[in-house]
Amino acid sequence: MTTTGADLSTLLHQDHATAKTLLQGFEAVPVSERQRAFDDIVGELVRHEVAEEEVLYPTLRDKAANGNAIADARIAEQAKAEQLLSDMEHDPVNETAFMAKFHQLRTAVLAHAEAEESTALPALVASVTPDQLRQLGERYEAAKKLAPTHPHPNAPDAPPGNLMLGPVAALFDRARDAVRGVRSR
Ligand SMILES: [Fe+2]
Repeated sequence: MTTTGADLSTLLHQDHATAKTLLQGFEAVPVSERQRAFDDIVGELVRHEVAEEEVLYPTLRDKAANGNAIADARIAEQAKAEQLLSDMEHDPVNETAFMAKFHQLRTAVLAHAEAEESTALPALVASVTPDQLRQLGERYEAAKKLAPTHPHPNAPDAPPGNLMLGPVAALFDRARDAVRGVRSR
């Protein structure tokens, strides 16, 4: 599998910048495009979070001073964002209830990304060698590619070309299973 050769800290900063751009640009997207734009956000967040859970947090727990406490706090934030996404799937993307939850999601995800950048990433960089950081980057990129964000293409209730959002919890589960299944081979 081709990877960019970037180290894990660089990749995670890049992903956070991408998520920030998508989240901050969402309200400027024309109403007719919003479902697709939101699907993109969900896909990006699912792949990023699942790959972090697989590569970043186990490494912190294993190698970093205070790694367990940092991992626990950041994973709790991710779980909150995941719950919000799951709640949002029942609201049409343009309605007030959806937008209220979207604003909560954006605040939560951006605060989580900042917390990762100020705690998890410095702890990671301090606890592994530059070579290990690059190897972790490779594993992260592979995990992100393997984490599916689409349902099975033949699922009868999935509209063609649409990323099925419901249920979001199952989307995260499928992504986790895929990444872990490959690792255990
Ligand atoms: Fe992150």
